[in-house]
Amino acid sequence: MMTDDIEKVLLTEKQLAAKIEELGKQISDDYRDRDSDLLCISVLKGSVVFFSDLIREMDIHTQIDFMVVSSYGAGTSTSGVVKIVKDLDIPLEGRDVLIIEDILDSGKTLSYLKGILMGRGARSIRICTLLDKPARREADIHADYVGFEVPDEFVVGFGLDYAERYRNLPYIGVLKSSVYS
Ligand code: IMP
Ligand code: MG
Repeated sequence: MMTDDIEKVLLTEKQLAAKIEELGKQISDDYRDRDSDLLCISVLKGSVVFFSDLIREMDIHTQIDFMVVSSYGAGTSTSGVVKIVKDLDIPLEGRDVLIIEDILDSGKTLSYLKGILMGRGARSIRICTLLDKPARREADIHADYVGFEVPDEFVVGFGLDYAERYRNLPYIGVLKSSVYS
């Protein structure tokens, strides 16, 4: 079974749901009086589960768009190379943008992305990440909204993968090292 590969559960479904509800409320309050809809950007694929839960906890008008970037391949440490595989459809000019990510690790991916998107004339860009691994930070970047800080362990589930697996785990867990060593 898939769950046999999990060493321990780090964040339960219940903890995740409660935090996402809280984040949704906070984001809604922060953007409620803007004159344009909040543009929520999902950085695929890792953010897909968090993104779809989070936007449903917002009670403001939003628009959504998707971006695919690749940084990791099948390994567990960053390559430093970030490539746009699928770009946004909606123009950013004058928009309030919220980038929604699964995890802020070295920060290289988001730092690169934020730079590109800022160059497209957005009015504001904030970052919301479900997980933050501050111990691993290399780029000068922080998230405006953070779900949970996690220790320096490779985690999977709730959208996060190892070699494209485990995205469908309903919780966040630590993978047994035997799976990748
Ligand atoms: P960064 O550029 O090092 O911040 O890496 C960001 C991306 O690496 C994330 O969006 C994830 O796809 C992936 N990543 C980083 N740490 C983990 C982890 O512990 N588990 C699964 N994916 C991870
Ligand atoms: Mg990934």
